[in-house]
Amino acid sequence: MHKEVDFLVIGSGIAGLTYALKVAEEGKVMIITKASADESNTKYAQGGIAGVMNAPDTFEKHIQDTLECGDGLCNKRIVRMVVKEGVERIKEIIQWGADFDKNEKGDYDLAREGGHSEHRVLHHKDNTGNEIERALLSKVRNHPNIEMYTHYFAIDIITQHHLGEEVTRHTPGIECYGVYVLNTRTGKIETVLSRITLIATGGAGQVYRTTTNPLIATGDGIAMVYRAKGIVENMEFVQFHPTALYNPGAHPSFLISEAVRGFGGILKTKDGKEFMQNYDARKSLAPRDITARAIDNEMKMSGDDYVYLDCTHLDAKALTEHFPTIYAKCKSIGIDMTKQMIPVVPAAHYICGGIKVDEFARANINNLYAAGECSCTGLHGANRLASNSLLEALVFAHRAAEEGKRKFASITYKLEVPEWNAEGTTHPKELVLITHNLKELQDVMSNYVGIVRSNVRLKRAKDRLRILYGETEAIYEKTILSPKLCELRNLINVAYLIVKQAIARKKNVGLHYNTDNVKNE
Ligand code: FAD
Ligand code: SIN
Repeated sequence: MHKEVDFLVIGSGIAGLTYALKVAEEGKVMIITKASADESNTKYAQGGIAGVMNAPDTFEKHIQDTLECGDGLCNKRIVRMVVKEGVERIKEIIQWGADFDKNEKGDYDLAREGGHSEHRVLHHKDNTGNEIERALLSKVRNHPNIEMYTHYFAIDIITQHHLGEEVTRHTPGIECYGVYVLNTRTGKIETVLSRITLIATGGAGQVYRTTTNPLIATGDGIAMVYRAKGIVENMEFVQFHPTALYNPGAHPSFLISEAVRGFGGILKTKDGKEFMQNYDARKSLAPRDITARAIDNEMKMSGDDYVYLDCTHLDAKALTEHFPTIYAKCKSIGIDMTKQMIPVVPAAHYICGGIKVDEFARANINNLYAAGECSCTGLHGANRLASNSLLEALVFAHRAAEEGKRKFASITYKLEVPEWNAEGTTHPKELVLITHNLKELQDVMSNYVGIVRSNVRLKRAKDRLRILYGETEAIYEKTILSPKLCELRNLINVAYLIVKQAIARKKNVGLHYNTDNVKNE
């Protein structure tokens, strides 16, 4: 028995939820999400959402900052489009109930982050994502046309391949008919046929040992689309956030928002010396690629495990009012950030690459769209400007919805799609092998494909990934599927794409830095 739905949305972060609310004006929507409804990268966003709200800021300045940060690889047309349309989209979620902080005059209290020439980041204290997710979920839950299936894990996109046809990356007219989904409560794999499918599965930070991303960030959508022969690009541009809290044993790592540096926090070495002036005129507020590399370099030179973020010179009351979540987290591990410096390290944070889409969020597979962190739109180029990703998700979810509403009624369900075939599979004897492979994968990527790469390191990573791939595929073919196994398989796929595309990138640009390459000039 299969399910049929006009719009299938995979993921319940900012991209999936805003899209669902819009297409639900016209058709029936099913959201599937692999954990609880709110678990997502969105929920943990701290700094906020960038938007040009008033003078002295201008569209041109935001455009220029985005282009400069992207180091020459942004699509200028897309940058202009997102910056201009983004403001309307921000106003829309405010109307839907998202609450952003204001100052005494009643204007939005705009924060500043690395790479921004103006204060332009709307925020809700230091837990903006949680506030956005709350507002969107409450609207989605009350919508009669939207059904949310939590703990449903999307396994594979259904295409002609599942009807027995040969599909290669060069096959013209690949079509998406829906998705096979694991109902993790029953263990059964269900078939969902859809007229239109949106992939909104977020990022892939879990491919690294140290990451700010929650456990759900396993690159599932990117891997699914790649397996279905879709185009995935720019995966070498992995953004490491310069300041995750140094707290050995904690996974994921807790983020110390860049807005803290925007508020006056200063990076220092363990012996209390400022160092960012040696790397960039913008010092602690340089773009992330430069700042993370500078910290990496300082740590390598000193042999220290972390550097410090110093806020002790700032007004203590204002600091704790602006950053209550960060203050409480630091306090919980014995650090009073108003009196002591915070130990910080870079951590994998955001994947700039992903499923290649056009300006309407269309993938190269018919009836398949992608929005949010899993997509590659051309906005970020080689390095994302801080707080531009929530903005990008809103703009592309909206555009995908407009396009979907125009098209869905003319698309028919593919009733010939067969049910999932689990014949011959059994429960794994040693689940621990999956855990071992995941740890090994995270070690390989952290050791060899981190902030600074080299040809030898990339080759080592490639060779080791081949072994992990072979072992994991052998388990996959014989085993009753579980989310852990599917996630491991997806992470290996994502890691392979990062390494392959890093090897192919022969010039250093933005986040990609290989000591054997030359700078892109
Ligand atoms: P997500 O919000 O990650 O949602 C993905 C959804 O897909 C989840 O519901 C997940 O469970 C579901 N899913 C995944 N795989 C499957 C599957 N196989 N089957 C079913 N469901 C699946 N950006 C900013 O612009 N400003 C910020 O201040 C900011 N701060 C950040 C702070 C942190 C700690 C982190 C981690 C990120 C931050 N970012 C920030 C980045 C930003 O939060 C994300 O890029 C953005 O929220 C991604 O939204 P999304 O909707 O694409 O994906
Ligand atoms: C932060 O608050 O530093 C994260 C902002 C972002 O990733 O855009």
